[in-house]
Amino acid sequence: MSMILKRKLKFDSSILGTKGHWDGAYDRELDCFDETGDVGEIWFGKSCLKTMVKAVSQLPELNKESKMIDLGCGNGMTLIELAKLGFKNLHGSDYSEKGIELAKKIRDQENFEFINYFIDDITKSNIQETFDVVLDKGTFDAIALSENRDEMKILYKQHVETILKSDGLFIITSCNYTENELKKYYTGDGDQSNFIYMTNVQYPVFKFGGSKGSTQTTLIFKKK
Ligand SMILES: C[S@@+](CC[C@H](N)C(=O)[O-])C[C@H]1O[C@@H](n2cnc3c(N)ncnc32)[C@H](O)[C@@H]1O
Repeated sequence: MSMILKRKLKFDSSILGTKGHWDGAYDRELDCFDETGDVGEIWFGKSCLKTMVKAVSQLPELNKESKMIDLGCGNGMTLIELAKLGFKNLHGSDYSEKGIELAKKIRDQENFEFINYFIDDITKSNIQETFDVVLDKGTFDAIALSENRDEMKILYKQHVETILKSDGLFIITSCNYTENELKKYYTGDGDQSNFIYMTNVQYPVFKFGGSKGSTQTTLIFKKK
């Protein structure tokens, strides 16, 4: 996704906002995994993933038993990295059946059978339990590219509020929204908001044309 999009408050809808796109992508990645063992796309790259999970593992609010869910987990590589760091209560959901099939295959190959994957659409979710941590890497971005994005974004935010315990953490990594845009969206209602901004994850900064930036943003919010 283009860096230029990062400055736009409203995006045009895109194929990335459709389930058909993700089903097709994970179908191809499943074939590739079966043939070569390649796990497929790591969104925002391996370096971002490693930096993000390391920062998560160092949060004082968390311990290795903290119950975490990765919304729109795709191939599940975020949870694999957290499992490698010793986290044990890990869950991942995605609306793409093929994505979950791929995640389960990778999990079994890596011998992290305790990671619990299931199919669930965030915008009409069946999840009945609550979590200490809700993770998102690229999923809010994808939802914001769907045709009826304003409604989908509201449903997404409500879902995170519903499944997060009080004092639980919402950790979102985005390449389409700036830090300020995410803060405004999740805490902008002031006292009415259910989220408090806590901190961000620092990534290497690049310079281009006199401007400074990084290709993705990770923010950590606490639920009131
Ligand atoms: C950019 S990919 C990121 C995948 C994964 N989080 C990662 O970091 O590799 C977006 C993911 O969100 C999932 N997704 C999009 N809309 C969804 C929805 N309404 N419910 C559940 N998953 C959704 C897609 O299937 C896809 O796996």
